[in-house]
Amino acid sequence: MFSITTLRIDNPFILAPLAGYSDLAFRLLCREFGAGLCFSEMISCHGLYFQQKNTLEMLKTVAAERPVAMQLFGSEPEVMGKAAAILSELPIDLIDINMGCPARKVIKKGAGCALMKEPALAAEIIRSVVKGSNVPVTVKFRSGWDHKAITACDFAKMAEDNGAAAITVHARTWSDGFSGTADWRIISQVKQAVSIPVIGNGDVQSHGDGLRMLEETGCDGVMIGRGALGAPWIFSADAPEKPSLAFRLEALNRHLELIRLHQPDTPPSQIKNHAGRYFKGVVDGAEIRRQIFSQTSYAGLEEVISSFSRVLP
Ligand SMILES: Cc1cc2nc3c(=O)[nH]c(=O)nc-3n(C[C@H](O)[C@H](O)[C@H](O)COP(=O)(O)O)c2cc1C
Repeated sequence: MFSITTLRIDNPFILAPLAGYSDLAFRLLCREFGAGLCFSEMISCHGLYFQQKNTLEMLKTVAAERPVAMQLFGSEPEVMGKAAAILSELPIDLIDINMGCPARKVIKKGAGCALMKEPALAAEIIRSVVKGSNVPVTVKFRSGWDHKAITACDFAKMAEDNGAAAITVHARTWSDGFSGTADWRIISQVKQAVSIPVIGNGDVQSHGDGLRMLEETGCDGVMIGRGALGAPWIFSADAPEKPSLAFRLEALNRHLELIRLHQPDTPPSQIKNHAGRYFKGVVDGAEIRRQIFSQTSYAGLEEVISSFSRVLP
C-alpha cells in the first residue's frame, strides 16, 4: 500500500500504459485480478484539444476501474495544459505525462522521451499540466537518453520541483528501446533522490519479479507492461505460477466478456492481439494462436475459443 498525495493505492502492482492494449476492458480485467492502479494508453493532447473522434474514444471509463490514470503526450505546454483541463472533467484519479516513449513519430514532434533532452521544456509542460488539472499529476520517463546521459535522478528532481505527485522510471534509456535488460539500480538511485513516490518499471515478468523489484530498489510501486499481456493474473499474489489452460481460458473469456460489455466496437485485430497472448508457452500454443489469428469476426473468435474450452483435458 502507498499513497500519491491523498490517493491510496492498495496494491503496489500497477498496469502500465500500453498503446493498443490498455483500454477500458483490459484495465477492468487487471483491476479484477488485483492491480492497484491502471494507466490508460497514451492520449494525444492535440487529439483531445481538437476533439478527434479516435482520441475521444480512448476516454471511456467506468467507476469500477478506479483508481485510474490517464496518460497524455505532447510537447507544447499550453496545449498540454488545456488537454489536462479536459481530462480533469472525467471521473479519473491521476493524469500522467509521457516523457518516455521512444517511438520515432512521437520523438520527431519533440514529445515522449525527447523531453528528457529538454528538461526546461519538460518542466514547463509539467507546470502547465499541474495548473490545468484538478487531480494529481505524475510523470513517466526513462533512465536517460543514452548510456552517456543517465539523467533519471536529475530529471526526477526536476519533476518533483515542478509539481509532480509521483514518478515512474522505466529503467532503460531511449537508445535501448525495449531491448537489453532494465537496470533496476537506476530505480534505487531515483528513489533516494526524491521524496515523492517512485514507481519502478522494466522487465517484471512475474509477481515474484515484482516483489523482488520492491525489495531490491525500495520503490513504492511496480509497474507491469508486457508481463501483463495475456497474463492479467500477474497482479495477484494468489494466482498459480504456472496457470493451467483452463485458468487461462477463464481469464480470456472474462476479457472477451468485458470487451462485449464495454467496447463492442473493438476491431477483431485488436482482440486477436490480446487473445493470442494467453497461449504463450503452452503446449500446442502455436496451433491455438494460428486458429485465433485466422478468425475475422468477434463471433468467430468466440466460437474458436469456446471450442478450446470443450476439448480441455
Ligand atoms: C506495445 C507497447 C505499448 C506501449 N505504450 C506505451 C504508452 O502508451 N505510454 C507509455 O508511457 N509507455 C508505453 N509503453 C512502455 C511501457 O509502459 C513500459 O514502460 C515498458 O514496456 C517497460 O515495461 P515492461 O518491461 O513491464 O513491459 C508501451 C510498451 C509496449 C510494449
